[in-house]
Amino acid sequence: MNLIRALAGLIGPAVCLASPMVLSSALAAQPVQTALNDGAAAARIKPVISFNVLMVKFVDQAADTIWSAAVHPPRRPCEWDQVEYRATQLATTGTLLRVGGTGPLDMQWRDSPRWAPYADNMTQIALDAARAASAHDVAALKKAGDALVLNCEACHREFKPEIPTQNIVTHLSHAVPLAEDLPPNCRAGNKQ
Ligand code: HEC
Repeated sequence: MNLIRALAGLIGPAVCLASPMVLSSALAAQPVQTALNDGAAAARIKPVISFNVLMVKFVDQAADTIWSAAVHPPRRPCEWDQVEYRATQLATTGTLLRVGGTGPLDMQWRDSPRWAPYADNMTQIALDAARAASAHDVAALKKAGDALVLNCEACHREFKPEIPTQNIVTHLSHAVPLAEDLPPNCRAGNKQ
C-alpha cells in the first residue's frame, strides 16, 4: 500500500475532509507519480525518534492494553473506548515503522524487504483489535491479541538485537491503570 493512501486511511475521512488544503497542496507540490511512490514518500519524511523508543513508548504500551483487555475484558463502554484508542495508536506505529527512525540500524531495517510485511501485519492486526473493541467483542479481541504476539515475536526473532541498540528497555508498569489515571468518565462510580 502506498504511504499517502495508508496515512489517509489511518487518519480517516473526517480529518481528510477537515484538511483538504493540506492534502491537496501536498499533492500539488509533487508530481503525482512521485507522491504515490512508497520509497520516495517515505524518504521525504524525517523521523524524529528511534525504533527503540517507538517500541518502548508506543508499541509496547499500546499492545499491552490489548492483551490486558483480552484477559480482563472491559465491562464498561469507557473501558472499551480506551482499548479502541490504544489499538488505533498501535496501528499507526505500523505505518511509522515503514517511514524509518533515528536509531543506528533503523534505516537498514526499514529497507530490508523482510521488514515491511511485519510492520504492515501489525497495522492490520491492530485495526482488527480496534474494530473488536468498538464492537465490544472479546473473542475477536483475543484472536487479534494472539495474532499480535506472534507477529511481534517473529519480527524480533529476525531483527531485534539481544540488547536494544540504545539500551532502552520498557520500564513503565504494564499494570492496569490506577483509578486516578483513568479519564474522569471512566472512574469508579461513573456508570458510563
Ligand atoms: C517490524 C518489526 C518489529 C515488530 C512488528 C515489533 N518489533 Fe519490537 N523491536 C523491533 C526491533 C528491531 C527492536 C530493537 C530496536 C533497537 O534495538 O534499536 C525492537 C525492540 C522492542 C522493544 C525494546 C527492547 C526490549 O526488549 O525491551 C520492545 C519492548 C518491543 N520491541 C516490543 C514489541 C512489541 C510488544 C511488539 C508487538 C506488539 C513489537 N515489538 C513488534 C522490531 C519489531
